Amino acid sequence: MTKTRTIIRGVGGYLPERVLTNAELATMVDTSDEWIQQRVGIKERHIAAEGQFTSDLAVEAAKRAMTAAGVTPDDIDLIVVATTTPDYTFPAAATLVQMKLGMHHGMAFDLQAVCSGFVYAVATADSYIKNGLATRALVIGAETFSRLLDWNDRTTCVLFGDGAGAVVLEKIELDDDAPEQGILASALRSDGHHWEKLYVDGGPSTTGTTGHVHMQGPEVFRHAVGKITDVVYAALEEAGYTVEDLDWFVPHQANKRIIEGAGAKLGLPPEKVIMTVDIHANTSAASVPLALSAAVADGRIKKGDLVMLEAMGGGFTWGASLIRW
Ligand code: ACO
Repeated sequence: MTKTRTIIRGVGGYLPERVLTNAELATMVDTSDEWIQQRVGIKERHIAAEGQFTSDLAVEAAKRAMTAAGVTPDDIDLIVVATTTPDYTFPAAATLVQMKLGMHHGMAFDLQAVCSGFVYAVATADSYIKNGLATRALVIGAETFSRLLDWNDRTTCVLFGDGAGAVVLEKIELDDDAPEQGILASALRSDGHHWEKLYVDGGPSTTGTTGHVHMQGPEVFRHAVGKITDVVYAALEEAGYTVEDLDWFVPHQANKRIIEGAGAKLGLPPEKVIMTVDIHANTSAASVPLALSAAVADGRIKKGDLVMLEAMGGGFTWGASLIRW
């Protein structure tokens, strides 16, 4: 007998060329490199060029993930782009990615769960694959978050950046007695009662404008550290594992203190926690695949490792995905 499994066949990340350092930010608002590094562990962020859109970042990451996977757009039949910053209100950025990859086949749609978007998208594509709707998916987290920022608001503008990360997910049939592989379990949650703690004050149905990010920083911090454990434990329990079995924890790269707080709450040694927030800041849905691609590229995550992806974001939404690499 065999069972259907979804594996991650390739990973890729892309950061726009332009780097905005803390020192440069300090010439724009009343802040300092010291404050930013000490409070959130961010040194610099990347900013998309004028005329460079979320779908452009997504395409770059997708190409790198496909190269790593050894596949071409012809092999893909599903594209999910997790984003809060699509090029247009519609169509979905995913359809623009599809076009830019020269594809006429398959299906493409966006998924909006803010910073949890990539984890939600991995679980969604995994379900599509396991239910027979797709065989090979590009799952992309891509953001031009800088375009939602009020660059006069020092409490938010220092925290975020632009970027994209992508994975190629693929359906395999695994013999029952073969070593386990691929996505083992996912857990997703949300609670809309918290929406005002982190939101953008614009939208097509409210103001007709894009709006800017607003955040109750300490509240977000409290929930971000507090909420992650339930989904992590739920995913571990479903697959029959405990925290001690994890080789790697790849959390949403919101900020250093949130990541350290989450790791400590789970009882994970810091060396098992992947952290890349210092070089790209909070890139929302792009942050988990950016961290993942860095850890795969430098050889830390390798075949057979047990990897937990985790994220929390506006809504609130939060989720986790357990993967045997
Ligand atoms: N530079 C210098 N000073 C600043 C800055 C800045 N960029 N921003 C705020 N301050 C000041 C404040 O005005 C305040 O000054 P005051 O005491 O004179 O009023 C002081 O610093 C302390 O502000 P607090 O808000 O109390 O600082 P706190 O220790 O709570 O840290 C922070 C603020 C870092 C934002 C924290 O609340 C946090 O990490 N929250 C989570 C934010 C986050 O990462 N959000 C990302 C999106 S959510 C997600 O992705 C899960």
